Amino acid sequence: MSEKVFYITTPIYYVNDVPHLGHAYATLVADTLARYHRAAGYTTYFLTGTDEHGEKIWKVVQGLKETAQEYVNRISETGFQALWQRWGLSNDDFIRTTQPRHTQYVQKILQRIYDAGDIYHAEYEGLYSVGSERYVTEKELIESPDGLKRLPGDKDPPELRREANYFFKLEKYRPWLLEYLDAHPNLIDPPAYRREVIEMLREPIGDLSISRPVERLPWGIPIPWDDGHVTYVWFDALLNYVSALGGEGAAKFETFWPHAWNMIGKDILKTHSVFWLPMLKAAGLPLYEKLVVHAHILGTDGRKMGKSLGNAVDPIEMEQKHGVDALRYALLRETTFSADSSFSEEILVKRLNSDLANDLGNLLSRVLSMVEKYRGGVVPAPHEYSERELNIISSAKALPDTVLEEARGLRIHMAIEKSLEFVRDLNRYVAESKPWELARDESQAQRLDTVLYTLLEGLRVASVVLEPVLPNKMLELRQQLGLAGQTYPLESAWGLTPASTRTAIAGVLFPKVELEIKQELPVTEATAPVPAPDYIGIDDFMKIELRVALVTACERVPKADKLLNLTLSLGNETRTVLSGIAEHYAPEAVVGKRVVIVSNLAPRKMRGIDSQGMILAGDGENGAIKLLEPDASLPLGARIR
Ligand code: ME8
Repeated sequence: MSEKVFYITTPIYYVNDVPHLGHAYATLVADTLARYHRAAGYTTYFLTGTDEHGEKIWKVVQGLKETAQEYVNRISETGFQALWQRWGLSNDDFIRTTQPRHTQYVQKILQRIYDAGDIYHAEYEGLYSVGSERYVTEKELIESPDGLKRLPGDKDPPELRREANYFFKLEKYRPWLLEYLDAHPNLIDPPAYRREVIEMLREPIGDLSISRPVERLPWGIPIPWDDGHVTYVWFDALLNYVSALGGEGAAKFETFWPHAWNMIGKDILKTHSVFWLPMLKAAGLPLYEKLVVHAHILGTDGRKMGKSLGNAVDPIEMEQKHGVDALRYALLRETTFSADSSFSEEILVKRLNSDLANDLGNLLSRVLSMVEKYRGGVVPAPHEYSERELNIISSAKALPDTVLEEARGLRIHMAIEKSLEFVRDLNRYVAESKPWELARDESQAQRLDTVLYTLLEGLRVASVVLEPVLPNKMLELRQQLGLAGQTYPLESAWGLTPASTRTAIAGVLFPKVELEIKQELPVTEATAPVPAPDYIGIDDFMKIELRVALVTACERVPKADKLLNLTLSLGNETRTVLSGIAEHYAPEAVVGKRVVIVSNLAPRKMRGIDSQGMILAGDGENGAIKLLEPDASLPLGARIR
């Protein structure tokens, strides 16, 4: 679609508890996507909100002195809205399902679908999950260690219920939906989730219960033609994406709805595809442009985060200790949409220290102090650019389009990695061009001007491409460059820092953090004397050429369960390497990783593909294979010895 309009939504969160890291993550991802698009000139609308009806919430309220409305007001306002405001998120609206603008719209759509004959009344017996607020099928359940069957992610097993409810004729739409998915291969992204949905639709899905009798659950939206029933949760909640725009005919709806990206976690994939698309169709509404699905964040123990497991990271604590930008950066750099990712404070601190403090923060302070020392804190005008500088300029000019493309392809981690790669190149350029030597030689004054200007303008470009991820810190960075209050669109540009600008050194942008890590020492067993190994000499070792590489693309090798086909960049060389790690890493999860390869291994043909090297990995716990990841400051192609 050529029109530059972008509408991004998050799931609306249940208010049965305060925001946790999953909520923070999803909202930060959407905020970042909104910022990339806004900066690139898209007319952008970003919606988030809270889901306030249903049994789960009704249950929580039972033990409290507050009314249900008072309770949901409190959690929505002081829990969610206040947090997003404190973090300076850029949402244009915040929808709550107890607002009249929403309840009235839900009633209007219910009536419309009822009049069209797609809603009927019937007695039903089935398994109900309160955790997920929907009826589930036997097939969806998995057996837990306690022998009970649950929906993955649910705390309690589903309950058998028999009730007279209203039903939406979902099954009727199954053939249409399959056809629609077939004709729209990009509707659900990343594609693995689309395949999952198609799989769900292979067998009958039944009709959808959309109401409950008021005497069982009063906390919902009254069914307009039957005051003995309320609708709640999914039929209610899903419509928020449209009710927030004012519904059909409203200017916001007409502008934004055709460009909607509904972003969700994979836990609610079924409701947002199998339920939501037929609902829209039955209501005569256009469908969303894209369903964007992200994977989950796990504790470092590899299990989904949860308070009871003791592996949960509290987003508010992380923000208070390390700042919201560091939290945003680490979450977005460490996760991919397709594969679950681990997260912990240790991971956050590592990223903060290596990428932000070392690579970016140090560069800024070095450059500013040289400008201060050699040019009295005034930006010099550049003179003739050398080939090296022209190279930096062409990278800088290409970067805005690159990061936008990566972000739109749901590879935010790659948008970040490519921005940081540019920053690391500026660091190498400092080392190569040695401004301190130029400063000692009066005849090199023009060279020094050019070098300093290239670094300052390079930092400005870095601040623009990283601003969607680090919105507060990049403003601070520009302030120090003397560009306070300036905003720059995400578009190709060089030379926007005016000569004669006064720089404004302030405090350290990203102070390094020391983290006390409780280390559990591995238990070593008493062993028999170890036989002397077969030693090799250093010459033997030096025969092996180990080099740093970046994975720029990766796909499965057809008909080979274990093999991934990786495209690697060694700086000025690209290679194809096959690696037997497919059972341990999803292809999307390795893209963006820095690895070490044996670069002088004789090429070998496997499955008709020439593999030009070998990637190093180690044996982890429980048979896991883990890639060896080198320090981020090592340039691509660097020799390891
Ligand atoms: O499902 N990792 O609300 P909810 C990453 N009200 N993201 C996570 C996560 C994790 N470990 N845990 C949760 C609901 N999330 C319904 C939605 S929409 C019409 C109604 C994120 O409070 C993820 O985006 O359970 C997930 O889909 C969402 O929180 C679920 O939030």
